[in-house]
Amino acid sequence: MTNHTHDHAHHPGHDGTPTQVLMAEHEMIMQALDALEKKVATVQAGGAPDRAYFEKVVEFLRGFADKCHHGKEEELLFKRMMERGFPLQGGPIAVMLHEHEMGRTFIKGIAEGAAKVGTDPVAAKQIAENAKGYVELLRNHIGKENNVLFPMADRVLSAEDQADLGMAFEKYEREEMGAGVHEAMLKLLQELKA
Ligand SMILES: [Fe+2]
Ligand SMILES: [Fe+2]
Repeated sequence: MTNHTHDHAHHPGHDGTPTQVLMAEHEMIMQALDALEKKVATVQAGGAPDRAYFEKVVEFLRGFADKCHHGKEEELLFKRMMERGFPLQGGPIAVMLHEHEMGRTFIKGIAEGAAKVGTDPVAAKQIAENAKGYVELLRNHIGKENNVLFPMADRVLSAEDQADLGMAFEKYEREEMGAGVHEAMLKLLQELKA
C-alpha cells in the first residue's frame, strides 16, 4: 500500500479494474495486428519485405504484447485465479499459457525471417507465414480472454483481490518494465500504424 503512487493518471490505459486494464492493452495489440496484417499483404503480393518494419513489429510484440501484457497475465492475474480455485492443468488457464508459448514461437519466426531479408530468398515466406499465424492466434486468444476468461476472473475475484492486483500491475510496470517503456511502446505502435 505504501508504494502506491498515482502516476497511473499518465497512463490512460491503466484506469479501471485489472481485467479492464488488460482489455485496453488488447485494443492496442489488436491495432498492431491490423497493421501487421496489412504489411504482410504487401509482402505476399510480391513486395520485398521491409526489414526495419518487421524488426519494429518484433520489438513491439516482445516488449508490449509479451513482456508487459502476457507478463501481467501470467505472473499476476492467472496466479491469483489459481489461488481462487482455477486449475493449472486441463483448464482455460493452461490453454492461455500454451497460446502465449505458441505466440513466442511465431514472433521468433518473424525475427528470424527479418534477419534474412536481403540475403536469403526464404525471408519473405518465413515472415509472412509466422506473421499470419501470430495474427490469427492472437485474435482468437484475445477473444477468448475478453469473452470467457476475464468474465470468469471477475466472478471469482473479490474486491480485495481486484485492488491488490491493480497495485501489483502498477508495481510490475515500474519494476519489470521500467520508466518510460509504456510511452515508448505507444510511440512504436503509432509508427507501426503509420
Ligand atoms: Fe493472454
Ligand atoms: Fe491477453
